[in-house]
Amino acid sequence: MKKMLAVAMSILALTFASYTVRESRCADAAKDDKQTSAGAMTVVGFSQVGVESDWRMANTQSMKKAFSEKKGYKLIIKDAQQKQSRQIAAIRDFIAQRVDYIVLAPVTEEGWDKVLREAKDAGIPVIIVDRMIKTSDNDLFTCWVGSDFRKEGGTAVIWMEKNLGSDKDLHIAHLQGSMGSSAQIGRTEALQAGVSKNPGWRMVASDSGDFTQAKGKEVMERILKQYPQIDVLYCENDNMAFGAMEAMDEVGRTYGVKGATKIISFDATHAGLTATLEGKINFNVECNPLHGPRVEEIIRRLKTGERPAKLAYVDEAAFDATVITQAELDQREY
Ligand code: AHR
Repeated sequence: MKKMLAVAMSILALTFASYTVRESRCADAAKDDKQTSAGAMTVVGFSQVGVESDWRMANTQSMKKAFSEKKGYKLIIKDAQQKQSRQIAAIRDFIAQRVDYIVLAPVTEEGWDKVLREAKDAGIPVIIVDRMIKTSDNDLFTCWVGSDFRKEGGTAVIWMEKNLGSDKDLHIAHLQGSMGSSAQIGRTEALQAGVSKNPGWRMVASDSGDFTQAKGKEVMERILKQYPQIDVLYCENDNMAFGAMEAMDEVGRTYGVKGATKIISFDATHAGLTATLEGKINFNVECNPLHGPRVEEIIRRLKTGERPAKLAYVDEAAFDATVITQAELDQREY
């Protein structure tokens, strides 16, 4: 009986060994395929949030331009349609394809550890771009480059205090971005801190427009029906501000420099700055989407064995409708 068991065990061990060898050969073959199809190219898998805003389109364009074939890259972009589950599936797909680098623009902050560990186990460096992630282990990603969203919100609140009055009674409506994203969390925290600090400021409504023009309009329509007085509309991106302006136009509510509702917006895209120059948006805080060259530089440095900074914040400006110039708008690349 003991002998039979030993024979069975050794057959099992042999089968397992040949399975393992076959698996690793498959992996090598996949790597060879990649080298054949892409030559000496560096393959980068980019999991993008979606196409929810002008900012996002500019960000995708910037990545495409930076990771061109001419520069020796093969860029695979997967649009997650603003769903984290699709981003997780995209990362798994990149791992299966054995890309050289993974770039993740995360839709939300939480929930990445498991899939990032899979990428780490596969030996693929992950660069996080734009929004941040919350992780129990910072070694699960290689580098991050993006915006300080809390600072952006703080800049807007300082402008409100100086220009609308720290001691004034203000009825504030708040259009939030996608809940759980760093862009929403940082900008919302700054406004909430401003409301707690300034006793006259009252948040009358706060709801998410998911960073899109259509939802921004929809939410604003509801707010307008409920509240006859809105002194400030704090809008967490330009596209939602455009939607809100459409809603206000339809019911004859005035806004901007000469109107009753003062509008604060974020992104300062070309269209957003045009509305600022026209006096429709009172104050617009920049969120810079041109991360392509920044991420490309990180990858270039990683390839030569350098250690780029773990975290890098980009510098951002802000524009007041009463001060912005045509020249500033003309310089806008996105
Ligand atoms: O994460 C950056 C934000 O995401 C931008 O403010 C917004 O427009 C985009 O969709």
